[in-house]
Amino acid sequence: MSVENTPVLEVRDVSLGFGGVRALSEVSFEVKRGELFSIIGPNGAGKTSMLNCISGRYKPTSGRVYLDGRDVTGLTPNIRATLGMGRTFQNLALFGHMSVLDNIMVGRHHLLNNNALTGGLYWLSGARKEELSHRRKVEDIIDFLEIAHIRKAVAGTLPYGLRKRVELARAMAVEPKIILLDEPMAGMNLEEKEDMARYIVDLNEEWGMTVVMIEHDMGVVMDISQRVMVLEFGRKIAEGLPAEVMENERVKVAYLGIDDDEPAEAGSAA
Ligand SMILES: Nc1ncnc2c1ncn2[C@@H]1O[C@H](COP(=O)(O)OP(=O)(O)OP(=O)(O)O)[C@@H](O)[C@H]1O
Ligand SMILES: [Mg+2]
Repeated sequence: MSVENTPVLEVRDVSLGFGGVRALSEVSFEVKRGELFSIIGPNGAGKTSMLNCISGRYKPTSGRVYLDGRDVTGLTPNIRATLGMGRTFQNLALFGHMSVLDNIMVGRHHLLNNNALTGGLYWLSGARKEELSHRRKVEDIIDFLEIAHIRKAVAGTLPYGLRKRVELARAMAVEPKIILLDEPMAGMNLEEKEDMARYIVDLNEEWGMTVVMIEHDMGVVMDISQRVMVLEFGRKIAEGLPAEVMENERVKVAYLGIDDDEPAEAGSAA
């Protein structure tokens, strides 16, 4: 199989347990190069756990994760980042006391070969050149996400919607082949959501990044995803085109069949 046809991401039979809780049970799926792939499912379905197994934050109890055909299951999150994985977090993970620019530069840190900040050889060595090239890449991202006006702002003082955008900028700064987004629109107003959706589509279509996105806003998911996978109680219950998935009976039950007034019967869903 040629490199072009190798899935960027392959998850094979991944299970994850936390003590008695089985967060994921034998989940398998592939994400093709250039795809915008969404993972949906009710709260606690295992979506973030899956992203953590992909990024290396969690090690699956069993199963494998392949990036570009390479088994990365045993590798640390940093090495996976170097191999081309970027991610954002469900709960923002910015350095609140640092400027927007510095937060984005952190995303590039592992790409720095020379440590541009140490040593008297700074002006003589390639370090300065390298730093300038990093700055340019970061500037491209800042322009793209329209955050030039807040570049010097202290990240922690920004409104929530803008902080989410800065976090996306930092993930893009890794220059990832695949970018993992955990609820990029959570807590946003309609206008912010529309902006964020547009950025995600553009980074997918224009920047050529493969996207795996977890999102609860069904309208956005159906609008921009090429394929959707549905998790429920740690298991994959559906996968396919957005319209197909929405018509799936199990998915309808998972989303609509929950009666908040009645206590769930123990074991009935397993
Ligand atoms: N670090 C952890 N320790 C123990 N249990 C965990 C841990 N992380 C997740 N879980 C459990 O694993 C299950 C799946 O959680 P996960 O956060 O992956 O769900 P989710 O689909 O992302 O939910 P949400 O939509 O609320 O973000 C839940 O039962 C959760 O309580
Ligand atoms: Mg989650």
